[in-house]
Amino acid sequence: MFSRIVRPTLNTARKFSTSQQNNYRVTVCGAAGGIGQPLSLLLKLNPLVTELNCYDIAPFTPGVACDLSHIETASKVKGFAGQESLKDALSNAEVVVIPAGVPRKPGMTRDDLFGSNANVVKTIFECATEACPDAIFCIITNPVNSCVPIACEVMKKANKLNPRRIFGVSTLDIVRANTFVGEMCGVNPKEMNVPVIGGHSGITIVPLFSRATPKVSIPKDKLDALTKRVQEAGTEVVNAKAGHGSATLSMAYSGARFANSILRALTGEQDVTECAYVMSDVTEVEYFASPVKLGKCGIEQNCGVGDINEYEENKLCEAMEQLKKDIKKGIEFVQKGD
Ligand code: NAD
Ligand code: LMR
Repeated sequence: MFSRIVRPTLNTARKFSTSQQNNYRVTVCGAAGGIGQPLSLLLKLNPLVTELNCYDIAPFTPGVACDLSHIETASKVKGFAGQESLKDALSNAEVVVIPAGVPRKPGMTRDDLFGSNANVVKTIFECATEACPDAIFCIITNPVNSCVPIACEVMKKANKLNPRRIFGVSTLDIVRANTFVGEMCGVNPKEMNVPVIGGHSGITIVPLFSRATPKVSIPKDKLDALTKRVQEAGTEVVNAKAGHGSATLSMAYSGARFANSILRALTGEQDVTECAYVMSDVTEVEYFASPVKLGKCGIEQNCGVGDINEYEENKLCEAMEQLKKDIKKGIEFVQKGD
């Protein structure tokens, strides 16, 4: 159904570039955190980034920026601490990556973070409506299933919504699916590409192993365990860290991979496709993760669900009710103004 998912890499070799611009201003919100610091490091190493603004409410954020600024790459790094500096941090940003907010502890669901993180996302987007309404936004903050609807509702309220430019970052699900199936089938995970659709929490995460490239043959009795492992991989890390946060390093890698794909597409590179959780009309739910073709304006084409087998169809059905609830919660949070 969808033709080709180009495997993005962190190197910036470009094909078919038709644009001259290859220097972008990127802001990281939550830059002092467990994800924010290594993600900012990877962005500092990305030659497409020429200005990197590191924003966080943590007072030591200028120290993080100072540390990064000593790295021998050409980009300029600035640190911004405290909410009063948010507007300056966002001003003129072309890409905004958001890992701001509280992570899970063992026993919590991602939805349990809604009470703390909904306001974090709302505040950042309220400011962005003025400071950088045309930026491309990459939301990492959980619960992603509800935070993307929050972001879009805030933009809609301000008459600034461009749904092609607001992404929930679900790349870690793809990265994990690639790793786990690669390990199981004896294929280098770097060569694997498994689309993952639905959302980013538990049963809403639906890996499509039937569409893996290269093609892999997963024994029937192992498919369910493999699917569940991808769905529960975040919890696997939360439990392994035993109260000291959730995935940070693998997420920083995934966030940097996604941001790099966005930047490559902005340069004019063709055929850049990533799975992401976006405002969508490809299923009955208003927000949905699926492969999207990226371009200079953000989403160029939503590739939709595509061909899936009966097992995956059942998993998708299980995802839908939960997705609807998560989406409704995000939308109502902004509409009802609580
Ligand atoms: P962390 O606590 O280590 O870092 C979060 C940072 O956000 C801190 O530095 C904190 O000061 C900052 N922050 C809090 N409120 C803020 C605000 N209002 N404005 C700006 N900065 C603010 O947490 P982490 O491990 O980096 O995780 C961050 C978020 O990312 C969590 O919500 C977590 O659940 C989520 N996450 C998502 C994925 C995904 O796949 N999308 C993967 C891993 C983690
Ligand atoms: C993940 O998938 O690792 C993140 O969503 C963090 C979490 O809470 O599991």
